[in-house]
Amino acid sequence: MRRLLVAGNWKMNASVAQTEALLSALCAAEFSCDVAVFPPFPYLAQAVQTTGNSTVRVGAQNVASESSGAFTGEVSASMLADVGCRLALVGHSERRSLYGETDAQVLEKTRQLLANGLTAVVCVGETLEQRQAGREEAVVAEQLALLLRELSNYDWRNIVLAYEPVWAIGTGETATPEQAQAMHAFIRSLLQEKDPALAAATRILYGGSVKAANAAELFAQPDIDGGLVGGASLDATEFSAICQA
Ligand code: G3P
Repeated sequence: MRRLLVAGNWKMNASVAQTEALLSALCAAEFSCDVAVFPPFPYLAQAVQTTGNSTVRVGAQNVASESSGAFTGEVSASMLADVGCRLALVGHSERRSLYGETDAQVLEKTRQLLANGLTAVVCVGETLEQRQAGREEAVVAEQLALLLRELSNYDWRNIVLAYEPVWAIGTGETATPEQAQAMHAFIRSLLQEKDPALAAATRILYGGSVKAANAAELFAQPDIDGGLVGGASLDATEFSAICQA
């Protein structure tokens, strides 16, 4: 019942020409899963225009936790909606580790997105040190606790989760399908405690060195509902192959 979603997080990589080339190639293909891309802010409007009536959705990599006003350098959820974005990432590990994004900010950013009709793709995941200490489930549960406590089942309809173990991001070291499935099943059990229908409906993506060569095996796991792809999403052929997986 959950449709697979494959999403490309371009991070701080793109140009007008690359955005055009990548998206034109993607829009020309047909996929049986949902597909989304997350270009940097300056290319969002262009990406929305280029994807036009195709099924490829455009999202932002970040959003402000406030709605408007004197917040220099920030971009609000209403602005994202205004230019045609349909979703945004929240709490990516790079935002958490490099820019100090807290679970409380993740909650506020998610609220902003939901209030403006966007889907929040909330990222969680443990570091290598945390996994080696056997704390991966505790860390992920903690990252999700506020969202589970503060948001209603209605709110959760527009939330997608992405499990991205920090040690697998950009390292070439993918979690094994078994490791990823175990964590996804654990996350689904947390959702189950809130509401079984929510657990059945919420999509949980895996991210961390996903490529065409490993995507099919990962996506075949019962609790993995697609992928959040970094590096490999910058290559149209590779990303399309992942979407086909
Ligand atoms: O958000 C996607 C991500 O962090 C994974 O990056 O390059 O390991 O696929 P990558």
